[in-house]
Amino acid sequence: MSRSDRYAIDDVAFIGRTVAEYERMFDLDLSAWSGESVLDCPGGACAFVTAANASGVDAVGADLLYDVPPDELREKCQRDVDTAIAGFDGVEDQFVWGYYDGVPDVREHWTAAYERFIDDYEAHYDTDRYVQTQLPDLPFDDDSFSLVLSAHLMFLYIDTLDHEFHEASLLELARVATEEVRVYPLARFDGKRYPRLDELRATLADAGHATEIRSVPFEFLREEPEMLVVEP
Ligand SMILES: C[S@@+](CC[C@H](N)C(=O)[O-])C[C@H]1O[C@@H](n2cnc3c(N)ncnc32)[C@H](O)[C@@H]1O
Repeated sequence: MSRSDRYAIDDVAFIGRTVAEYERMFDLDLSAWSGESVLDCPGGACAFVTAANASGVDAVGADLLYDVPPDELREKCQRDVDTAIAGFDGVEDQFVWGYYDGVPDVREHWTAAYERFIDDYEAHYDTDRYVQTQLPDLPFDDDSFSLVLSAHLMFLYIDTLDHEFHEASLLELARVATEEVRVYPLARFDGKRYPRLDELRATLADAGHATEIRSVPFEFLREEPEMLVVEP
């Protein structure tokens, strides 16, 4: 299949999801993490951090672009949603339309997410709620968070992010977690699972981390909806 026959955008997009999408992608019951610390990396334009904090979770976001001033980042959010939505043109049949009822509904979710995110980012730009970072390095001490979430970076951009990046990033995410790291999805936009997942799991096992593939109740990509769970 050529690139134009499948969903494809050139760069890693700065987009985000609503907390309801995250709850499904990570099979997450937010109320169960009340009072706990949770890291979302990469946080992108997600409403997760603000919604989780409003629910009593001590949530922190980390992303490559969290040093960009709020006004500039707001414009990027708008541009990147447009680009990401345009990527569906002509390839809509490669997705499972259940959670979303069509491309306009995807746009509504991702717009709602970034609008909620950017207001919170503006209010907390100078605090440690939104932290600039570049995986595979994280500026946090060992065991800083109970739960670490990571969506839509690893396993998706394998043309630009190599196996060593994935290995080092997963080990780093596990270093800062005490209970679990959850990573979603395990497949690319074409529905094919990351080809060296077993090798990654072996590397994590050698470093003392048990892993598990767990089903999640979120269908969108043409793959088994699953996440990787890493135990620190
Ligand atoms: C597609 S978004 C995913 C955001 C969110 N997790 C979600 O599921 O909607 C990918 C994010 O990865 C960030 N990013 C790209 N490379 C990164 C790196 N090396 N370290 C941290 N963040 C990175 C981008 O800035 C972007 O916000």
